[in-house]
Amino acid sequence: MQETSGEMQGNQRILVVDDEFHVRTTIVTLLEKHGHCADRFENADAALAVFLERGADLVLTDVKMPGMDWSELLGRIRAVDPDIPVMLMTAYSDKNLTLNALKMGVYDFILKPFDPDYLLASVSKALKYRHLCRSEKDHKANLEKAVADKTRELQEIHGRLVLSEKMAAIGLLSAGVAHEINNPLSFVSSNLVSMDRHVRRLTEFVDRQTTLIASHCNTDVIEELEQFRRTRKIDYIVEDMHDIVAESLEGAERIKKIVASLKGFSRKDENILVEANLNDLIESTLTIVWNEIKYVATLNKELGDIPAIKCYPSQLSQVIMNLLVNAAHAFDKGPGTITIRTWADDASVYLEVRDTGCGIGPEHMDKIFTPFFTTKETGKGTGLGLSICYDIIARHNSFIKVESEVGQGSTFTVSLLRSLD
Ligand SMILES: Nc1ncnc2c1ncn2[C@@H]1O[C@H](COP(=O)(O)OP(=O)(O)OP(=O)(O)O)[C@@H](O)[C@H]1O
Ligand SMILES: [Mg+2]
Repeated sequence: MQETSGEMQGNQRILVVDDEFHVRTTIVTLLEKHGHCADRFENADAALAVFLERGADLVLTDVKMPGMDWSELLGRIRAVDPDIPVMLMTAYSDKNLTLNALKMGVYDFILKPFDPDYLLASVSKALKYRHLCRSEKDHKANLEKAVADKTRELQEIHGRLVLSEKMAAIGLLSAGVAHEINNPLSFVSSNLVSMDRHVRRLTEFVDRQTTLIASHCNTDVIEELEQFRRTRKIDYIVEDMHDIVAESLEGAERIKKIVASLKGFSRKDENILVEANLNDLIESTLTIVWNEIKYVATLNKELGDIPAIKCYPSQLSQVIMNLLVNAAHAFDKGPGTITIRTWADDASVYLEVRDTGCGIGPEHMDKIFTPFFTTKETGKGTGLGLSICYDIIARHNSFIKVESEVGQGSTFTVSLLRSLD
């Protein structure tokens, strides 16, 4: 049972265990007189209970006590706190006991009747040792945390570098491919438009011819022509020709869009940094994408008081647009909310696009910025939107990051340096 509690002086706690009332009281009184905080116990079980509940920094224990003995107490305490110094108080000088205790890591011996000066000096030394152990542990933990933080940071930088290199390579490649595709695509498109016109004229001509034949020729000729028309499936062909041309024109339109996106990688048209305010770019982009958003989401605008920054404005508008369109496409289970937010600190201006949509599965997280990665059905997504964003933001020496939870939504945050010079 704990009998008294010393008044806290400093924050190091000493437990004194001795079955002799006179011994434990004298020691605790002496320690308290010299500014220590000490609790006294008449047996090891009571001391252990308090230690397990509150911990301690030093234990002074008798050797021979009823109940749990010193070695068991030492073992149980060390199992929880391996660095705590433990001192033995004994009336006998016993070589075997001393050797055994030293092997078990006992810090010091106090011979009874004890010498107050020796006791105080030894206690001070033990508490200093304890303090050093604690600081070393904290220091080690801080160091390990710093190393872990730095390693994570380096891994992130490495990841970004790898991605930037990949983007640069894709940029070069796509510029070439886009250029090569553009020429044949433009004559295919213009031929398809002509073909559409020709097919309409031909259809008109055939219809007219049919009408005239019907009114001027005899029934044998009409019947023969009708049969020929049926066996050659002319009506079906005329109808199908319209569909074929319409589908081909739609396909050419899609290719045009992909080529335009590929060109986004290598935009050479905007090389001059211009002062622009992100809030203005958001407002103008919203007018373009409003149609995509208005039926699927409620839009919250939380535009902060942010300064203008030097940037490539039309490229940043493209980033805003891609993020907003992606957010609008995330509501596969009914309407939700899109929040667009801006704010600034001393170094950067921030843009956040948050949605309450389907979220991104962890298996997709490291692929979404990769060109042509898409989970959308064919024709709906090219998988270039986010890679273009990444490329543009890298041109601004800035970063984009994403947090997402499946079924909860996604948050894309872009941080743009206030000064690019
Ligand atoms: N806000 C979002 N919520 C859920 N998934 C998203 C979101 N933004 C991006 N994604 C995922 O990342 C993929 C890649 O996006 P990205 O914008 O690059 O291409 P895309 O939207 O599929 O096609 P597009 O080229 O038309 O933009 C998407 O297909 C989708 O799976
Ligand atoms: Mg997209």
